[in-house]
Amino acid sequence: MTMPAPPLPDTPCYLNGEYTPLKDAKISVLDRGFIFGDGVYEVAPAYGGRLFRFEQHMARLARSLAELRIPNPMTAAEWQAVALKLVAAHAQSTGAPAEQGNQLVYIQVSRGVAMRDHPMLPGLTPTVFVMANAMKLPSAQQREAGVACVTAGDFRWEKAHIKSTSLLGAVFARQISVDAGAVETIMFRGDHLSEASSSNVWVIKDGKVFGPPKDNLVLEGIRFGLIEDMCRAAGIPFELRRITHAEVLAADEILLSSATKEVLPVTLLDGQPVGHGLEKGKPGPIYARLYAEYQRAKQA
Ligand code: PDD
Repeated sequence: MTMPAPPLPDTPCYLNGEYTPLKDAKISVLDRGFIFGDGVYEVAPAYGGRLFRFEQHMARLARSLAELRIPNPMTAAEWQAVALKLVAAHAQSTGAPAEQGNQLVYIQVSRGVAMRDHPMLPGLTPTVFVMANAMKLPSAQQREAGVACVTAGDFRWEKAHIKSTSLLGAVFARQISVDAGAVETIMFRGDHLSEASSSNVWVIKDGKVFGPPKDNLVLEGIRFGLIEDMCRAAGIPFELRRITHAEVLAADEILLSSATKEVLPVTLLDGQPVGHGLEKGKPGPIYARLYAEYQRAKQA
């Protein structure tokens, strides 16, 4: 049975230099983003009308574009101006004052439009799309109880460090957790932790925060640097290294991080409570400290 699609918003978006209602924005069927998933994207949060860690998002966008040999169509200042304009327009459309709403800015750049041919055709005009939507943060209940995740083998490609719009691997991975009634799918390459379908994963043991190395097998989330900074500020030891499946199962705490999840505790993994003793199956103390630090960083 087909379900009627929810109506598309008519808030403005930015497409190739113009602002148009989102529901009316159109691109060519020959856009290489559509044909090959040949493009990159960013998802950057805005709190109370202010962009958060936008410089870092722009640096990662530049890195992803360079990997794909797509020229960056705008300067960081130009990207910021477009993003702020859309955030303000979105806030206005909700009727609430800008300083009360939270948005997610989605940016996509594809290689451009050409007859279908696999090579990285040079000289095309990139297709540029930006929109701002309401940000849905985890619920109070999820923060209090933590969330359930499941594990799976990481069947994605070996260029996970590029924030590419070729996301079928992520779509399959996320669906595994949807089918299991869980919030994320935590993936392993062989015996080693990589990341979740659209979040990074952190393991806490004996008061220390561990994450996987920043290599081609994971996306370096903007929260990678932020969590490191927050750990340093709070005096929490932090280390990036290969993490085994057994270490994940033996963790005191497990956390997810992403633009929308901020930091979020995983309290059930494959149906088993995470952690030990009194904190078994509950959000732990390092989560509480990092979440508090995160909220402080948002105000700064
Ligand atoms: N996802 N790993 C993957 C595979 C991701 O897709 C994401 C982000 C992250 C976390 O990155 P950051 O801290 O910069 O949000 C890690 C975004 C939010 C998305 O695809 O919607």
